[in-house]
Amino acid sequence: MNAAAPIRILLAGANGQLGLDLARRAAETDGVELHARGRDTLDITDAAAVQQAVEAVRPDWVINAAAYTAVDRAESEPEAAFAVNRDGAANLARAAATQGARMLQVSTDYVFDGELGRPYRPDDTPNPINVYGESKLAGERAVDAALGNHALILRTAWVYAAHGQNFLRSMLRLMAEREELGVIEDQIGTPTSTLGLAETVLAAVRQGLTGTHHWTDAGVASWYDFAVAIRDEAHALGMDTARCRIRPISWHEYPTAARRPANSRLDKSTLREQLARPGEPWRDALRSTLGRIPGASPA
Ligand SMILES: NC(=O)c1ccc[n+]([C@@H]2O[C@H](COP(=O)([O-])OP(=O)(O)OC[C@H]3O[C@@H](n4cnc5c(N)ncnc54)[C@H](OP(=O)(O)O)[C@@H]3O)[C@@H](O)[C@H]2O)c1
Repeated sequence: MNAAAPIRILLAGANGQLGLDLARRAAETDGVELHARGRDTLDITDAAAVQQAVEAVRPDWVINAAAYTAVDRAESEPEAAFAVNRDGAANLARAAATQGARMLQVSTDYVFDGELGRPYRPDDTPNPINVYGESKLAGERAVDAALGNHALILRTAWVYAAHGQNFLRSMLRLMAEREELGVIEDQIGTPTSTLGLAETVLAAVRQGLTGTHHWTDAGVASWYDFAVAIRDEAHALGMDTARCRIRPISWHEYPTAARRPANSRLDKSTLREQLARPGEPWRDALRSTLGRIPGASPA
């Protein structure tokens, strides 16, 4: 590759939470030429379409931000989850291999069982406890099998954005409707804004990193802590959230189809060192994200 030439990227899943912010961030980043494809223009389960797209763009990197992310629904439709999360990822990786491209596969804390008493390191043994986690782990393995040292597996957790379906937007809606909400206190992780995540993805690609790495915003919270911070930060920005009481509950009191790990903390040290980025404190990132939601007006 010519040193002066931009890095050419094919992005799949461009209309998702992360995909949208990646495309926006890439447009503001020198030296990056991003070709964004949503599901409407590239269905990653269609191997021929994927091969065609990769041949047309001739990317240096493929970034896979497409995924089946309906964690509870995956329990009753595992074929659909595996079709996207394993087979779709494999299609992208095989096509990338035919062009000598590298690939960044976004993955998840849900590949782990959450039993460990410390943050998970990239080389800890995965042991998913739900179908979504199994399908994402199968995707990691498929990408690794097709690309080996041309693959970058980037696991993240608790992702939210100013757009799309996520805990932040659900909480804002519920807080405006209800006087009290019970929120889980005994699952911990790190809320992660797509703003910082998109920057990290682009930094990793520009630096040519490969291997398995973890990234979230900095710090630790329970879902309860996150909900309280959303209420208070949103209120400070003029939103109608202050009168909602938030009650800490156990995950036992909130049954869901899929089990979730109690500990979703990820050890980010490999990326922090290699990218020289400490990561933003999660509450600061929350404030920035809230500021992008219509209805927020800084006091
Ligand atoms: N959200 C989280 O808390 C979280 C946590 C850890 C890791 N991750 C990972 O982070 C990545 C980005 O997640 P996200 O939160 O941005 O998810 P998202 O908002 O659900 O976006 C996923 C995108 O993939 C698209 N998609 C689904 N099937 C597809 C297919 N067959 N072909 C092409 N596109 C397809 C979806 O389109 P439709 O909307 O049309 O289905 C959607 O636009 C994923 O790898 C996810 O597993 C997410």
